[in-house]
Amino acid sequence: MSPEPNLRAAALDSAASMIIPAHVGIIMDGNGRWAEKRKLIRSQGHLEGLKAAKRIVKAASDAGVRFLTLYVFSTENWKRASEEVGFIMGLVKQYLRGELDFYRENHIRIRHAGDPAGLPPDIARELESACRETCSFSGLQVILALNYGGRDEIVRAARKILDAAGNGGMPLITEKTFHSFLDNPDVPDPDLIIRSAGEYRTSNFLLWEGAYSEYYVSDILWPDWTETEFDGALKAYRERGRKFGGAR
Ligand code: FPP
Repeated sequence: MSPEPNLRAAALDSAASMIIPAHVGIIMDGNGRWAEKRKLIRSQGHLEGLKAAKRIVKAASDAGVRFLTLYVFSTENWKRASEEVGFIMGLVKQYLRGELDFYRENHIRIRHAGDPAGLPPDIARELESACRETCSFSGLQVILALNYGGRDEIVRAARKILDAAGNGGMPLITEKTFHSFLDNPDVPDPDLIIRSAGEYRTSNFLLWEGAYSEYYVSDILWPDWTETEFDGALKAYRERGRKFGGAR
């Protein structure tokens, strides 16, 4: 069971030296398996997955995480049955509309990673409106990776560089300039990438940005995630020694 909110806050405060990752990415996996275990349809797993996402947004905000990227729908997820895709898009719409009061109360800013051009027009509009309405909020920034693929982001960045160059010839490309053409260049690279449901794969998530991220894999299926699991991931992160390719 999760601790009382004030107990959790006290536990977080008492660890004065606690290192909170500035940016956490989450591959929210296991919705389908959660439903199958209960002989429910897969959509029921996604519905519970949305509830888990709301719990974790609150937990991240309370813990002082500054950026949280949620892998909601990949460029490969379009291969799923049209009913499942339609259901997930419906949940996204419901989430974007229904959480506005919560974002206001908690100063949460919504952002997008991915290609908006490939989204159904009503979802793209809803996303744009949530991003606009929350753009001045200074609390946690929740980045919804929606129609997102790491390879696709890199290819789109390369195209943007060519477009920006016009007929002026090929610009000098460095890691720094390339980075500035990614979807959210001002967002720091993820310190920690969490994957639920026990799979050891990147699944095309934040390929460029995650070059030096710490990975945390949990067997717990995403719909079962609460702040307890999230705190467990933060604790594991604190115990890692990061070298970024250097020596200790
Ligand atoms: C992966 O589990 C999950 C998804 C592809 C969808 C994630 C969507 C949500 C959690 C709901 C929407 C959330 C927000 C914040 C709007 P899977 O279906 O691949 O699970 P499986 O591997 O067990 O089949």
